[in-house]
Amino acid sequence: MKRVAVLTSGGDAPGMNAAIRAVVRCGVAKGWEMYGIRNGYAGLISGNIRQMGTRDVGGIIQKGGTILGSARCEEFKTVEGRLKGIRSLRQLGIDALVVIGGNGSQTGSYHLNKEGFPVVGVASTIDNDLYGTEMTIGVDTALNIALEAIDRLKTTATSHQRAFLIEVMGRKCGYLALMAGIAGGAEYILLPEVETDPEEVAENLRLAYEHGKEHAIIVVAEGAKYNAEALTNYFDQHHDRLGFNIRATILGHVQRGGDPGAFDRLLASRFGCGAIEAIDREEYGVLVGLKENMVQTTPLEEVVSNNKQISMDMVRLARILD
Ligand code: F6P
Repeated sequence: MKRVAVLTSGGDAPGMNAAIRAVVRCGVAKGWEMYGIRNGYAGLISGNIRQMGTRDVGGIIQKGGTILGSARCEEFKTVEGRLKGIRSLRQLGIDALVVIGGNGSQTGSYHLNKEGFPVVGVASTIDNDLYGTEMTIGVDTALNIALEAIDRLKTTATSHQRAFLIEVMGRKCGYLALMAGIAGGAEYILLPEVETDPEEVAENLRLAYEHGKEHAIIVVAEGAKYNAEALTNYFDQHHDRLGFNIRATILGHVQRGGDPGAFDRLLASRFGCGAIEAIDREEYGVLVGLKENMVQTTPLEEVVSNNKQISMDMVRLARILD
């Protein structure tokens, strides 16, 4: 019999609840005692932990957010903070911890595991910027939300023959912007990974109108050098010469809200059970992710010491299709 705890950490992502449900139910199916920790690493440090059974995770697979709550916790970045967390787990006789979260959260998992507590990470963030997995829980739903916004902007852009810019999240990673831009048929996509000259953006818009397009949509990643603010400022400053005004929409946290789609519910269910299987094998210090459409683990050390790259093939595809 094992005692296993689960927490969600960092920015929430649609599908986190489905992952909690899978972790708890797969653990119970093995005859283990399962525990939920409130508010991420902050709740771990303060010992906000309670036992969970299968009914505690009933009716949540379709819900966005996380029933356990989440937090960004500065104290956990310190050794003292992590030692307090380990003490909370040991007091309850917990054998292993599942951490559902993104880059920052898995850095915490890596340190915790190195400092002697067995941890398994589950890849979950709308940014899809985690090394060791092709997809993270939440990104597909967030992408569809961005896409709906682009489609809506396109309607009004066409009516008024206007240029619209939409900024999407992703921190330092351009994945969401790139995929939303391609799937939304954007005229231009600005990414943190690719240097862009605003004059080239203006030239593209001019050509789009010359070729008879009735709208222009620019998708900008929040981490791009020319994000929504910088690009609109540039166009405003050079309005007389460029001849365009851009109306900007910053999508922000709308992308993280709402209920998960089928893809994220299934991915989260597979990842949650994958974490329990890893614990059953006593394979600790790993991230559960998706590789070649199979649930596979990657050492957390590799995850935290590598940066996931966006696909340059997709960047080229975007250029051809704009
Ligand atoms: O990591 C997820 C994410 O939504 C990023 O895309 C974004 O940059 C960040 O979190 C926003 O963080 P917060 O919700 O703490 O403002």
